Amino acid sequence: MYLPGTALVSLLLLQLQLLPKAHTGSCVDQEKISLLRFLAGLSRDGGLSELWLNETDCCSWRGITCNEDGSVIEVSLPHKGLEGQISPALGGLTRLSRLNLSHNSLSGGLPFQQLMSSSSMVALDISFNCLNGGLLQQLPSSMSSHELPMQILNISSNLFAGEFPSATWKVMTNLIAMNASNNSFTGRIPIHFCNISPSFAILDISHNQFSGSIPPGFLNCSMLGVLNASHNNLSGTLPDELFSGSSFLEHLSFHNNGLQGILDGSDIFKLVNLVTLDLGGNKFSGQIPNTIGHLKRLEELHLDSNNMYGELPSALGNCTHLTTINLKSNRFSGDLGNINFSALVNLKTLDVYLNNFTGSIPESIYLCSNLTALRLSANHFHGELSPEIQNLKYLSFLSLGNNSFTNITNALQILKSCRNLSVLIIGGNFMGEGIPQDETIVGFENLRFLNINRCSLFGRVPFWLSTLTHLEMLILSNNQLTGPIPPWISSLNNLFYLDVSNNSLTGEIPITFMDMPMLKSVNTADLNPRHIDLSMYRGPSLQYRVLTAFPTFLNISYNNFTGVIPPQIGQLKVLAVLDFSFSNLSGSIPEAFCNLTNLQVLDLSSNHLTGAIPQAMSNLHFLSAFNVSNNDLEGPVPTGGQFDTFDYGSFGGNPKLCGPAFLRRCEPTEVDPASRFSSQSHHFSSTLVIFATAFGVFFGVGVLLDHRVLSRLRLLQL
Ligand SMILES: *[C@@H]1O[C@H](CO)[C@@H](O)[C@H](O)[C@H]1NC(C)=O
Ligand SMILES: *[C@@H]1O[C@H](CO)[C@@H](O)[C@H](O)[C@H]1NC(C)=O
Ligand SMILES: *[C@@H]1O[C@H](CO)[C@@H](O)[C@H](O)[C@H]1NC(C)=O
Ligand SMILES: *[C@@H]1O[C@H](CO)[C@@H](O)[C@H](O)[C@H]1NC(C)=O
Ligand SMILES: *[C@@H]1O[C@H](CO)[C@@H](O)[C@H](O)[C@H]1NC(C)=O
Ligand SMILES: *[C@@H]1O[C@H](CO)[C@@H](O)[C@H](O)[C@H]1NC(C)=O
Ligand SMILES: *[C@@H]1O[C@H](CO)[C@@H](O)[C@H](O)[C@H]1NC(C)=O
Ligand SMILES: *[C@@H]1O[C@H](CO)[C@@H](O)[C@H](O)[C@H]1NC(C)=O
Ligand SMILES: *[C@@H]1O[C@H](CO)[C@@H](O)[C@H](O)[C@H]1NC(C)=O
Ligand SMILES: *[C@@H]1O[C@H](CO)[C@@H](O)[C@H](O)[C@H]1NC(C)=O
Ligand SMILES: *[C@@H]1O[C@H](CO)[C@@H](O)[C@H](O)[C@H]1NC(C)=O
Ligand SMILES: *[C@@H]1O[C@H](CO)[C@@H](O)[C@H](O)[C@H]1NC(C)=O
Repeated sequence: MYLPGTALVSLLLLQLQLLPKAHTGSCVDQEKISLLRFLAGLSRDGGLSELWLNETDCCSWRGITCNEDGSVIEVSLPHKGLEGQISPALGGLTRLSRLNLSHNSLSGGLPFQQLMSSSSMVALDISFNCLNGGLLQQLPSSMSSHELPMQILNISSNLFAGEFPSATWKVMTNLIAMNASNNSFTGRIPIHFCNISPSFAILDISHNQFSGSIPPGFLNCSMLGVLNASHNNLSGTLPDELFSGSSFLEHLSFHNNGLQGILDGSDIFKLVNLVTLDLGGNKFSGQIPNTIGHLKRLEELHLDSNNMYGELPSALGNCTHLTTINLKSNRFSGDLGNINFSALVNLKTLDVYLNNFTGSIPESIYLCSNLTALRLSANHFHGELSPEIQNLKYLSFLSLGNNSFTNITNALQILKSCRNLSVLIIGGNFMGEGIPQDETIVGFENLRFLNINRCSLFGRVPFWLSTLTHLEMLILSNNQLTGPIPPWISSLNNLFYLDVSNNSLTGEIPITFMDMPMLKSVNTADLNPRHIDLSMYRGPSLQYRVLTAFPTFLNISYNNFTGVIPPQIGQLKVLAVLDFSFSNLSGSIPEAFCNLTNLQVLDLSSNHLTGAIPQAMSNLHFLSAFNVSNNDLEGPVPTGGQFDTFDYGSFGGNPKLCGPAFLRRCEPTEVDPASRFSSQSHHFSSTLVIFATAFGVFFGVGVLLDHRVLSRLRLLQL
């Protein structure tokens, strides 16, 4: 990732590194004592006590640098596995100008007053520890009279809390960079930095709980290059002054706050040096102003998840350095062809998911030869796919789902030649067409994820799918596919997620299912841990960056399968979700189910299953959803384990079952009470259907799991 930093910032930071290069003189006794006290305050010292020997010169100790006089000027102990507290004794190092204790596990409070008392501290980096408590609200009066030389303060990624003490910073007239991100600071955002320090350049207060509105004058810093206030609870609008301040500003992020208002065309685009503009995850409305074309250096534009609308300004095509355009989840409309993409040769990601765009895919997109991720799903695009898309040599993520594209044969014939394509989502298009059986659909050399759901496609499960040897997830649900599940399915060695639900498939459950390698044993070595280019979402809180985060999944529900469930089902030892509901299956529930110890969801409802529920299934400790309702099962319901948590909805519609309070008692003479409950008996299934439908429509993947189940799965699989 490009880390912004103006020439100025780099210059100032460079200056720092050019501090007089120290000679190692002989160490001052008093300072040795301070260092040994610091060491004594640690509960784990990462081996330092073997290196910091009392009888040796402390200027030669690991991590210590002295000046010619033998005074310690730098303590640098990042990544040393240190635990325990930071001793106030460090305040005894009166010439200390750089202290770096980042990436340890230090806890307790920060002895800020002692550390500052030396008045020579220039750079303090205690980031990535577990330090807690608040920061000093007020420096002691002895110190508040003179200006401190402090230039860099990095307290990020700790557990600091409370209000941010603006008053403390009044003496830091030389501050250049402040990183307080990823703590738990509350209250209003601090504003004084710029007024106090004329050279202030970097402020990161992201990932805290700052609230209230952005105070006027907040950005009145002439040198500010980076401002990141993302992931807080800020509200109100962006004040006008925000834009009259720094012309050096390269990075501006307010991602995930509660900001509102419109982007004023005469304001924000005064920031002509902006490289990153991230206002995603707020409540901004209005259009993107045409003046965005003035941001000639812009590389990343994130306006996702707001309430913005209108057509995109053609001037966006003037921002030729753009690598990322993220406009997903808004109400933008009109023809994407308003923008001439041909000059955006650096574009890597274009994401307009969930908007109201119309028209066909503009041909000029195919000139963005570096494009790797293109997501156009959930809009109103139409037309046939153009062969020009084959120009996109690096395209690896393509989602066209839920639009009105036509001619799936044409689409697949073209896309098969996209060698780098690894995620392809085209469901929710091609309504009522036939799924191509054409054996010339060979290619898709790197395809790992294929979703062709919700198209009402007819025909058999085509043979060419068997050539997609890298496929990990295949979703063909909600079509009108007929015929059997082909026996070659188990030859897809990496397939761990298969959804063919809601089709008209027939025949017996193929025995080859039971040989799917990824469902039989954990073999993560074969799976590709590489990040997918764009997150896939389920609901507002779940997103997937790696395919392996999905559960092992087998869903053949809502078809017309006949015959029995083969006892070899017991081989699918790592399967997490199994759904055979709403078919024509008969016979009994095989004992072998009790070997599926990773099972979390099991749905066999609405078939014609007979016999007893194996008592040993109560050993399935991860099972959190179970449904065998509307079959013809008999005998006692298993007790113990997870079975004590399932209610009537799991068993209803089986008049011959008996057991828990909601069923009839296990006595042959008992009157059958099942009819009393029949109105509830579809409850569980219809909930699942609603889930599946919602996620199918909006997220292009049908997952039937709740949050709890999934987070557990992630732990299991990552
Ligand atoms: C270090 O050595 C000095 C004398 O050389 C001694 O007085 C002191 O107690 C020692 N400190 C520790 C922590 O062993
Ligand atoms: C502290 O050390 C880490 C790890 O070497 C380094 O990345 C960081 O830049 C250092 N901090 C400062 C302020 O130099
Ligand atoms: C802490 O922040 C400073 C200033 O931005 C930076 O130079 C330093 O590298 C950061 N430390 C770590 C460990 O990233
Ligand atoms: C601030 O620190 C966090 C880690 O704690 C880091 O991710 C972020 O990039 C830093 N911000 C800046 C502007 O360097
Ligand atoms: C936040 O801090 C925690 C604890 O130090 C760390 O594990 C995590 O990576 C940090 N997150 C970010 C976004 O820097
Ligand atoms: C911001 O700076 C301008 C001049 O650069 C000044 O007139 C204005 O008063 C400042 N605003 C605040 C709130 O400091
Ligand atoms: C975009 O570039 C074209 C051609 O260079 C120019 O005519 C037009 O005024 C520019 N638009 C904006 C908003 O910068
Ligand atoms: C999408 O556009 C249509 C007209 O083209 C309009 O009726 C509809 O309200 C728009 N939807 C949204 C969410 O803006
Ligand atoms: C594509 O990206 C590479 C770096 O990833 C860059 O060197 C190249 O110039 C880019 N191509 C175009 C046409 O901009
Ligand atoms: C679909 O595309 C194929 C291949 O490009 C073409 O031969 C066929 O005529 C098209 N079908 C329709 C209905 O347009
Ligand atoms: C399922 O198949 C049977 C015959 O095997 C047929 O009678 C029945 O109508 C089919 N049901 C559906 C919903 O297609
Ligand atoms: C469960 O698996 C074990 C070991 O693979 C096997 O011996 C046993 O027969 C299986 N149980 C059932 C009921 O299939």
